[in-house]
Amino acid sequence: MPSIEENQQTWDENYEWAKQGDEWSSSWGGAEAQWVGAILPRIHAFMPTGTILEIAPGFGRWTNYLRTYCDRLIVVDLSEKCIKACQQRFATDSHLEYHVNDGKSLAMIPDNSIDFVFSFDSLVHAEADVMETYLSQLATKLKPNGVGFIHHSNLGKYQQAFSIVEQIPSDMRAEIVNKVLLEPTHWRAPSMTAKLFEEYCDRADLQCIGQELVNWGNEGLLIDSFSLFTPKNSTQSRANQIVENLAFMKEADSIERLAHLYAIKSKKIGS
Ligand SMILES: C[S@@+](CC[C@H](N)C(=O)[O-])C[C@H]1O[C@@H](n2cnc3c(N)ncnc32)[C@H](O)[C@@H]1O
Repeated sequence: MPSIEENQQTWDENYEWAKQGDEWSSSWGGAEAQWVGAILPRIHAFMPTGTILEIAPGFGRWTNYLRTYCDRLIVVDLSEKCIKACQQRFATDSHLEYHVNDGKSLAMIPDNSIDFVFSFDSLVHAEADVMETYLSQLATKLKPNGVGFIHHSNLGKYQQAFSIVEQIPSDMRAEIVNKVLLEPTHWRAPSMTAKLFEEYCDRADLQCIGQELVNWGNEGLLIDSFSLFTPKNSTQSRANQIVENLAFMKEADSIERLAHLYAIKSKKIGS
């Protein structure tokens, strides 16, 4: 169960960040290919814009692109090491603002100031209480027609199956069940689901307007969700639409297969 303390220890102390997080983009053929092929198509409707808030930027894998789509970009991460790395990496950008937080608080963000909030490949490690706290604050931080796009865990959807599996003796489990049922969970938070995200939005006076459930890093389990939300009275508000996408890794494969073909010569692909 990834607690805030474990996240802090992992990202601030243990992880080496040898490639600034680009190592996680190899299935897509590199960070640029992943941004252009997998992320931008899902968020282009909301950018360029005035102020973007990025929660949990790490060493700035997506900050590097987001910064070109706004007048102001605020980044918040619980790791001081990550924020320092972003400050160095984007030292020439005067429109970036940096904050280290406690893994929950957005008190440093003025109310009614954010046009678009973004988080990708980070809050998948945040448990339900953290997600609820962030959403309750985002309701006041977003402008009236602001929109959020947050990548989070849906592993809780499989909690029942996992708890049954845990009752099977571990030697049998390894032989029979793990291979079939327990695909890699990539340190996803087991308490979080897309359904809970929708409920937390509702409680905070936000409307969840779209959720894409994806099989991140595996064949058959929709362990992640990309959730879109906006204030209930926003012009962007509409009934939630949920899409189950078991072809997410196939999409990555095809992006990866073509990435080198359309890259400019001086760029290293997949590094
Ligand atoms: C796997 S890294 C990903 C970083 C970046 N989004 C990327 O894709 O390269 C996870 C990041 O999330 C941050 N993080 C984890 N839990 C957080 C929380 N509750 N609040 C703020 N930052 C958090 C970590 O400090 C780390 O920078």
